Amino acid sequence: MTLVPIRIVPDPVLRAKAAPIAKIDRVAESLLDDMLQTMYDAPGIGLAAPQIGVSLRAIVMDLGIREDRAGAEVWQMINPEIIGRSDEESAYEEGCLSIPGVAAEVIRPATVRVRYLARNGKTEEMEASGLLATCVQHEIDHLNGVLYIDHISKLKRDVLLRKMKKLLAEKADDTPEREHNL
Ligand code: NI
Repeated sequence: MTLVPIRIVPDPVLRAKAAPIAKIDRVAESLLDDMLQTMYDAPGIGLAAPQIGVSLRAIVMDLGIREDRAGAEVWQMINPEIIGRSDEESAYEEGCLSIPGVAAEVIRPATVRVRYLARNGKTEEMEASGLLATCVQHEIDHLNGVLYIDHISKLKRDVLLRKMKKLLAEKADDTPEREHNL
């Protein structure tokens, strides 16, 4: 397992559409391992492969990190796709390890159904609600070159990006609470 530096906006890899993973081999497994280690180190509750510079469709999530229960609810998804969305919506204060130091409320479908390839090669489906629904939508967005700031107004986005640049320039440690790092 390798700790990999997290790519920060405006890195172009964050805006690329990631390619599907053709088969789960040693390379794909070691990608997942690197992603998990990098996510736990950050710390964040979710990470997508483009965030470590790999334009492939893989995401990892562990909501247990919020309560120091890392490993309690680990998800490793290859080629995930959303196959159903609720009409009901929910709002959550989202942050992103690739947009450090800032966060904003984003409204998304409250429940989604996701189909993905598990690490063992099996096709699985899961229904996510609550924070897991927010997180899985945020991570799948990453695979399509979409960031949470694309879901808010241009005005708010510009303010956030200016604040992020200022914090980075000052090297200020103003990272939002870990449950906001998706
Ligand atoms: Ni993110």
